[in-house]
Amino acid sequence: MARGIISRYGLGLHKQRPLRAALGVTIMKRLAVAVAAALVLAFAGTASAQAPIVIKFSHVVSPDAPKGKAAVYFKELAEKYTNGKVKVEVYPNSSLYKDKEELEALQLGSVQLLAPSISKFGPLGVREFDIFDLPFLMSDDTRARQMMASPIMADFNKKLEAKGVTPLAYWDNGTHVYTANKPLILPTDFRGMKMRIQGGKVLDAVARQLGAIPQIIGFGELYQALQTGVVDGEDNVPSNIWTQKFYDVQKYLTVSNHGRLHYSLLTNKKFWEALPADVRPQLDRAVKETTQFFDDTAAHDNADALEKIKAGGKMQFHVLTDAEKKAWIAALMPVHKEMQGRFGKEMLEKIYKASGFVPPES
Ligand code: SIN
Repeated sequence: MARGIISRYGLGLHKQRPLRAALGVTIMKRLAVAVAAALVLAFAGTASAQAPIVIKFSHVVSPDAPKGKAAVYFKELAEKYTNGKVKVEVYPNSSLYKDKEELEALQLGSVQLLAPSISKFGPLGVREFDIFDLPFLMSDDTRARQMMASPIMADFNKKLEAKGVTPLAYWDNGTHVYTANKPLILPTDFRGMKMRIQGGKVLDAVARQLGAIPQIIGFGELYQALQTGVVDGEDNVPSNIWTQKFYDVQKYLTVSNHGRLHYSLLTNKKFWEALPADVRPQLDRAVKETTQFFDDTAAHDNADALEKIKAGGKMQFHVLTDAEKKAWIAALMPVHKEMQGRFGKEMLEKIYKASGFVPPES
């Protein structure tokens, strides 16, 4: 290029030397600037590789529970699929946020991922999810899972998004059993019992309908509440009872399958939408694969936990007979009726159809 300029202006040989030298300096300067710019870019690249996007994933259960395992599985996939552009920090056992605090922390952007039970959305001001707590509504495993992945959830999801949180997936942790310090076989056995509930109007109504006294207690405080007699019983999935060692502080277990534990994998809406284009599809893929992992793990771990609790011999087991189950459903149908006013008849019928619940003839 220097040579072209020189010949175009037809300069004499005697003048070419200093000019060539001057042009050489300019080129050198430009080269130096280009090299410096390249170095800055290279350093910027290194810096971004050294400072990945951090996703804090907080949850309230043991690392050995299905949700604890799924959180670690997600971490591994997310970090692998994004080639280290994302780092996931998992905080189990309410070590970062407790039940009461975590949803607000998510809204504020202090944490980026949670997987709370959908029965705990009351404090968010989203009460529609309480419908899924209607007793015996979701006893059919297949239909329960299908429903939570179906378009029926679109309106529910919008309610969450209006609060600044996006549900990325629903994870099914199976059906609830009761544990207590006395046998619970007939609906009347609940009378006067102080029963821990997760929260929500439906779970409150269920306990009251049975003649029990409901108390909302965070999952992290539940062991102690059972141990000290703050409450006499609770309901949960076997994997939580096993990993939290509730069998040390509760004598009786009733396999009632009266409720279901669904989680929603929640993120902060603004955070997720602002993720770079070369990161978000990889995270979406990790979410999808973790959801399958979670559902398979939960089904396996809950069956396994029930066997282990039984084999441990510390709890006395009772599996509701068909007749007993009928009596429980009959005793709890007034809650369904009462909640018609809250959710609307049409919505209730829609959910019954999706879940396969057939109300008994009254
Ligand atoms: C959980 O599995 O996240 C906790 C459920 C509960 O609070 O009972």
